[in-house]
Amino acid sequence: MACPSATSPGPRPPTGPTRRSSATEAEMLAEPVAAKHGLAAGEAGRPANADWTIDQGWANYSAAEHATWKTLFERQTKLLPGRACDEFVQGMKDLPIGADQIPDFRRLSEVLMQRTGWQVVAVPGLVPDDVFFEHLANRRFPAGHFIRKPHELDYLEEPDVFHDVFGHVPMLMNPAIADFIQAYGQGGLRAQQLGCLPQLARVYWYTIEFGLVQQRDGLRIYGAGIASSFTESVFCLDSPSPNRVRFDLERVMRTHYRIDDFQESYFVIRDLDELLDFTRVDFAPLYQRAKNARELQPGDLLPDDVLFQRGDGSYHRARNTVTG
Ligand SMILES: [Fe+2]
Repeated sequence: MACPSATSPGPRPPTGPTRRSSATEAEMLAEPVAAKHGLAAGEAGRPANADWTIDQGWANYSAAEHATWKTLFERQTKLLPGRACDEFVQGMKDLPIGADQIPDFRRLSEVLMQRTGWQVVAVPGLVPDDVFFEHLANRRFPAGHFIRKPHELDYLEEPDVFHDVFGHVPMLMNPAIADFIQAYGQGGLRAQQLGCLPQLARVYWYTIEFGLVQQRDGLRIYGAGIASSFTESVFCLDSPSPNRVRFDLERVMRTHYRIDDFQESYFVIRDLDELLDFTRVDFAPLYQRAKNARELQPGDLLPDDVLFQRGDGSYHRARNTVTG
C-alpha cells in the first residue's frame, strides 16, 4: 500500500514501480490516462464496507490481466536471485504464487495465517490512513485488487496487486516482519494523535518499502518498493549514485525521501530481527527529538553515519540538470 500522492503526506509511501525514468514526454502524452482507484478516485472509489474491504473478485480477472501479471512476475523472478534477501526468496517459494495467474488472496491467506497469523484482504486501492493502520494492527494486509495496464509496467501512481502481493506478501511470511508491520499499524494510530505521522512514515519508507539488509554475501533487498521494481532492484545495489547507510531509527525519522524517483539513500539493517527491536521501543521521545533536530534531505550524510557506500550522487544530479 502507498500514500496517495506527493502532496498527501500520509504514512504510506508510493510504490517502487512508480518510476517513469525512461519514458519520453511524447510517450507520456500518448499513453491513456490511468484510471484512479480507491482513495485516489474520490467518493466514487469508496466501497460500502467501513473498513474499505471488497471481494477480490478473482474469477473476474481477464486473460489479459493474468498475462500482465505473468510478464511482471517472470522478469522480476529472473532478476531477484542474488538481490532479494533469503527470507523473501523463501517466502515466495512457500506461498501459492506463480507466474500464470494473479494470486487468489484467500489461498495466500490460508498459508500466511498458518505461518504468521496474517491475511491479505482486498481493497480497491489506496485507503485512508486510519483504515490502513487498523488493518495492519490486526494483521490484515490491505492489497489493491487491480493490476496495472501493459503500458504501466514501470510506472504506476498507485500500488496494485503486483506491488502489494509480489512485493509485500513474501516478507509477511517472516515472523520479524510480521510483528514489525503489526507494530507499525499500532504505532500509526498513536502517531496520528501525537502529530508525528511524517516521522513514522519515514521509518516505514526506509524499511518496509525501500529497506536493505546485510546478509553473508552482501547487501540484499527486503523492501517491497524495491522488490517489485524492475529498475530499482538494480539501481539500489549496483549504482554508484545512492548512499547506503547503516540504519539508525532517529536519523531515519529526520530524513525526507524521494517519492517519484529512485532513493538517494538506502538504509541497511543488520538482519530482519533488528526490526523486532524497534517494536519494543517507545517512539514518543524519538519523535520529539527528531522533530526538534534539523530535517535531512534524502541525499544528506551526517559525520557519524556508518556508510556501506558514499554515493557519488551522479544519477540525481543528472536528473536535476535535465529537469532544470
Ligand atoms: Fe507498498
